[in-house]
Amino acid sequence: MDSIWIQGGKRLEGKIPISGAKNAALALLPCALLTEDKLTLGNLPRLADVDSFGHLLNQLGVSTMIEGVRRGEYGRRMTLHAADIASTVAPYDMVRKMRASILVLGPMLARAGEATVSLPGGCAIGDRPIDLHLQALECLGAEIELAAGYVKATAPNGRLPGGDYSFPVVSVGATENALMAAVLARGRSQLFNAAREPEIVDLCNLLVAMGGQIEGIGSSHLTIDGVEGLHGADYDVMPDRIEAGSYACAAGITGGSIDLVGARADDMRATLNALAQCGLILEFHDNGIKVSADGALKPLALSTAPFPGFATDMQAQFMAMLSLADGESFLEETIFENRYMHVPELRRMGAEVEIHGRSAVVHGIEKLTGAQVMATDLRASMSLILAGLAAEGETEVLRVYHLDRGYERLEEKLSAVGATIERRSTG
Ligand code: EPZ
Repeated sequence: MDSIWIQGGKRLEGKIPISGAKNAALALLPCALLTEDKLTLGNLPRLADVDSFGHLLNQLGVSTMIEGVRRGEYGRRMTLHAADIASTVAPYDMVRKMRASILVLGPMLARAGEATVSLPGGCAIGDRPIDLHLQALECLGAEIELAAGYVKATAPNGRLPGGDYSFPVVSVGATENALMAAVLARGRSQLFNAAREPEIVDLCNLLVAMGGQIEGIGSSHLTIDGVEGLHGADYDVMPDRIEAGSYACAAGITGGSIDLVGARADDMRATLNALAQCGLILEFHDNGIKVSADGALKPLALSTAPFPGFATDMQAQFMAMLSLADGESFLEETIFENRYMHVPELRRMGAEVEIHGRSAVVHGIEKLTGAQVMATDLRASMSLILAGLAAEGETEVLRVYHLDRGYERLEEKLSAVGATIERRSTG
C-alpha cells in the first residue's frame, strides 16, 4: 500500500488544473448501456473508480477503448460500445469494491428488460441503503425481488411503462438510476424531490444529447418522456466541483493563493460563499477561480445539505481548514450518519474538535503538528492531506488508495504549487 508524505508549512501558490468530476463520470459511464451505438466521453479523470467502473462494464459486454493523454495533461477520452448486453449481472465482488456500481441497475433494466445487481452493503461513512433506488424503479413499473444478497429488477413485457415517484429523501444515486431507467420507458415519468446536484444536470444533458426527452433539468421536478431508443454521443464530463473546493481549502489552510483552472463557479456557490465567509479572496475569471488567503481565517457555522446547499463532500476539508481559524466553528453533517472519521486523526495532529452526534465544534488553534495518520474514506483522506500541508513538521497519510479513488494525480498537482509532498510505497 502507498502512503503520502508531506513536509508541512509551505505557502501554496500557483495554478491547479481541475479534472473531470468523479461523481459525474460514474453516472455518465453506465449510459453506454442505453444504446447500441458508440458513446465517447471526454475529460474523464484518471481515477481508480473510473477504471473499476470500466471493468464492470466490460463484464456486462461493453467494449471500452481509452485514449491516453500526454504527460502533464489531464482528461482522457473513452469510447464505450454496448452493441449487445452479454450479461445482466453485476457481481458482488465488483459492487463490494465500488458502491457506485449500483448505477448499472437502471440502464441495464431499461436496455435489457432485466438486471441483477449485488446489494452494495454499507461503507465507512454510513449504511447507505438503496431502498430509494428500488422504490423509484418500482414506481416506474419494475418488478423487484431480493434474494441471496442480490436485487433482481424486471420490466414487465421487457419494457418499463414509466410512472411517477416522489423521493422522501433527496438521493443523488437513486435519481440517477431512475433517470436512466425512465429515458427508454414506454410512457411519461415524473420524479419529484429529485436531486439537483450539477452531476445530475450533467447526466440529463448527456441523456438529451443521446436523444432522451427530459424537462425540468436542474430542478427537483423532472419529467421524462420515454423514447424508442437512444443514439451515441460525444460528451465531455463536467469539472469536479469537490476537487476544486478541496484545493481551495489548500489555499486557505496554507495562507496561499491557488488558481483553480477550469472550475465552474455555478456548480459550487455554497462552497465559494463559505470560503468568502472564512475571509478568503475569490477572483473569478473566464477559465476558473483564483482563491487567496487574506490574513487570519474566520470561523464559520456550516450545515451540509443537498444541492444547492453546502456539499457533504466538502465537510471534512472545511473542518481541517477551520481547525486553524481564529475562533470556534460549528459544523452539522445532515446527510450521512458517520462522516466524522477524520476527527480522531485530525486530533492526533493537534486539532481541537468536539463531536456531539451529527454536530461538531471546531476550536481554532495556532498550529497543527505533523503525524502519521490513517485515511478511512475519500474525503477524510483529503482533510488529512490538507492538515499535513499546514502542519509543522512531517505528516504521513497511510492507506492512500482511498485518495486515489477521487483525486487525480494529487501529489503532482500540489507539488506544482509548492508543496513538499511525495508518494511512498509502504509495501
Ligand atoms: C452520491 O452518493 C455521491 N457519490 C457521494 O459522494 C455524495 O456524498 C452523495 O451523493 C451526497 O451528495 C457518487 O455520486 C458516486 P445519496 P449517493 O443517495 O448517491 C440515503 C464522495 O465522497 N439514502 O444522495 O450514494 C443515504 O444513506 C461520495 O465523492 C437512502 O437512505 O448518496 C444518505 O444518507 C461519498 N436510501 C442520503 O440518502 C437510498 O436508497 C444521501 O445519499 C439512497 C440513499
